[in-house]
Amino acid sequence: MSIIVNPINADFAAEISGLNIGQAADDATRNEVVAALDRYAVVVIRGEPVSEQAQIDFALNFGPLDTINGVLTTDIKRRVRAELTDISNMDEDSEILDLSDRRRLFNLGNQLWHTDSSFKRIAAMYSMLHAHSVAPERGETQVCDLRAAYDALDDEMKTRIEDMISVHSIFTSRAVLGFEAFSEEERRALPPIRRPVVRVHPGSGRKSLFLASHAGDILGRPTAEARLLIRELMEHAAQPEFVYTHKWRVGDLLVWDNRCTMHRARPFDEARYQRDMRRATVMEAQAGEVHSAA
Ligand code: OGA
Ligand code: MN
Repeated sequence: MSIIVNPINADFAAEISGLNIGQAADDATRNEVVAALDRYAVVVIRGEPVSEQAQIDFALNFGPLDTINGVLTTDIKRRVRAELTDISNMDEDSEILDLSDRRRLFNLGNQLWHTDSSFKRIAAMYSMLHAHSVAPERGETQVCDLRAAYDALDDEMKTRIEDMISVHSIFTSRAVLGFEAFSEEERRALPPIRRPVVRVHPGSGRKSLFLASHAGDILGRPTAEARLLIRELMEHAAQPEFVYTHKWRVGDLLVWDNRCTMHRARPFDEARYQRDMRRATVMEAQAGEVHSAA
């Protein structure tokens, strides 16, 4: 298979053609996709919807998958296989979730800028989101280039944040929306994780910011000051010149590198339309967790 990489911007977002995710990829193809992700951080592969097994097999070319998917564990029946994360507004019988359903309220957190699984000990490297059904209007996904955002910071800010360590927790991002309805068991399963605010993106060697809504504290700073700084950095990063907006078609696979991006879902008419996406998540090779106190 010989793939073609069409850049959408000079160094951010590309569309890959000539690649069928339903067929086994050889090593050369896999390496070309990795090279595209290293440079562009987010890639679009258009095609037809494939089975869950085919989506899983394709993702496994890139590394081990996160199989502990789903933060809500109390009384949840899964709609998709354990190797996939259900990114939809549907219940296990494929009915649209009630607007007050606990799963739907939790999922609303995806509309905040975030990094996948940075609140877990081993965070997500590649998220591979595949569309089975889409909303005919709105419901886009936006991905933000945190390397370009870092480059555009002034030197004073770069120096200020160089050695900062932030604390990531899923309960921080959900609390932003007033969602606190977690069981003790759910809370215990996901303790806070420390991560550097600035990191070198291994794929490109470029420095990148690494934070979004799961980050709530910075070690050694008062919480209020930390939250203001996190907010300021996120506002800076979310400027239009750093953002790619993906308009979905059925069959698309959108892949982003969580090590140097943040992303969010955009709203759509959830009572009216089914939006059925399933995500395979390739984990980072190392935990990337900071243990030292600062
Ligand atoms: C995700 C996610 C955004 C969307 O799959 O991790 O945040 O648009 N999705 O559904
Ligand atoms: Mn996400």
